[in-house]
Amino acid sequence: MPPTDVTGTFLPDEISFPARRGDTLLDVALDNGISLPHECGGNCSCTTCHVTILEGWENLSSIEYPENERLEDADSRGDRSRLACQALILRGHVTVRREVLEHDNGADYRPFVQK
Ligand code: FES
Repeated sequence: MPPTDVTGTFLPDEISFPARRGDTLLDVALDNGISLPHECGGNCSCTTCHVTILEGWENLSSIEYPENERLEDADSRGDRSRLACQALILRGHVTVRREVLEHDNGADYRPFVQK
């Protein structure tokens, strides 16, 4: 990946990543081996990619339809919630916490913890 001034960190994985301007948070998670669920394939119809933006909210694209409506269905939605498949990284740094670590279907998305 070429040098970039766009970066981020995923929690609870504590993995930092470089990104290309315009990447979605889902793109960079998958590119960096982060186990971010995306049951609908990034089509804004499932909410399994729900994340909370801890830093750098202003560095992301704004929330638009249909993300705003879909987020209403997300468990534990807060005022800093986004869907990773819809949020584009535009500049600077973001810190993101994954909100779905275990799925209703039994899938386990907890981070790998090195000992
Ligand atoms: S991957 Fe399904 S809403 Fe984002």
